[in-house]
Amino acid sequence: MNLVPSKIKFKNVSFKYENQISVLKDISFKIKAGTTNALVGKNGSGKSTIAKLMDGLLAPDSGTIEIDGEKINTKNIAQMRTKIGLVFQNPNDQIIGATVAEDVAFGLENRNIDYKIMHEMVEKALIKVGMNEFENQDPNLLSGGQKQKVAIAAALAINPSILILDEATSMLDPVSKQEIKNIIKKLQTTTDLTIIIITHDIEMLDQVDNVIAIQEQQIIFSGEPQQLFLCTNLMKRMDMEPPFSEQVKKELTSQGIKLPNQYLNDEELAQWITKLI
Ligand SMILES: Nc1ncnc2c1ncn2[C@@H]1O[C@H](COP(=O)(O)OP(=O)(O)OP(=O)(O)O)[C@@H](O)[C@H]1O
Ligand SMILES: [Mg+2]
Repeated sequence: MNLVPSKIKFKNVSFKYENQISVLKDISFKIKAGTTNALVGKNGSGKSTIAKLMDGLLAPDSGTIEIDGEKINTKNIAQMRTKIGLVFQNPNDQIIGATVAEDVAFGLENRNIDYKIMHEMVEKALIKVGMNEFENQDPNLLSGGQKQKVAIAAALAINPSILILDEATSMLDPVSKQEIKNIIKKLQTTTDLTIIIITHDIEMLDQVDNVIAIQEQQIIFSGEPQQLFLCTNLMKRMDMEPPFSEQVKKELTSQGIKLPNQYLNDEELAQWITKLI
């Protein structure tokens, strides 16, 4: 079991797929233990490649990737992978079992775990995503949002210290998206997980500690989301719109209304405007 929060370090990492042009060129960044991070960038900028490098599914051409101060190499790769839970974009691609419980148990099956303990671990993971009542159901009959919750439970069942969600909400309806956001929020406050959210969705950024932005093989930004929202040109380069609250702030400022300098999310801005009236 991984009980200690995990940190990740990319140091001068370069990567290209066979016969392809370079995807990542000499990139370095750190992810602090127990933090929630977003990885953003245009389509094809290399976000999923970074996730696969973290999980050891791909190896860098040069540079090193460290998890908890240990470089990933061919010898420790299997052990390193036990630290990572991965959730992908398409919920249908992640269904393996005939029942929800079987699906969640899949990652535990070759670990020599007693059946009763395994059942408890599955149950615990399903409770975390609010899907424990569905354990005997056929996962194929679930909605997209429910399938994605089961995929998160399957990732959590192995007790990872790092959870990577690769565009996990991009195929979901707004209600399911909000439910997944709430699950992530709960994991942030009740666990020591280091979370990495790969996303195009600006709405996902309001709950992260740090954003890493990638463009043209380079890291072009690493810092608090509020800082990124103020970098209008950078956001434009990545085809991202600042959040609605930032746009309203700009409009109010152009009308001569003086606003606080710090970042305000939608709710804080609404409260601030109410005080004006
Ligand atoms: N298996 C592969 N073989 C060859 N090229 C690949 C492979 N997977 C990805 N690529 C290419 O590598 C680049 C980075 O891809 P990657 O999937 O990491 O980007 P991404 O930022 O996750 O994109 P998206 O937002 O569309 O998910 C792209 O140009 C892509 O076409
Ligand atoms: Mg991707």
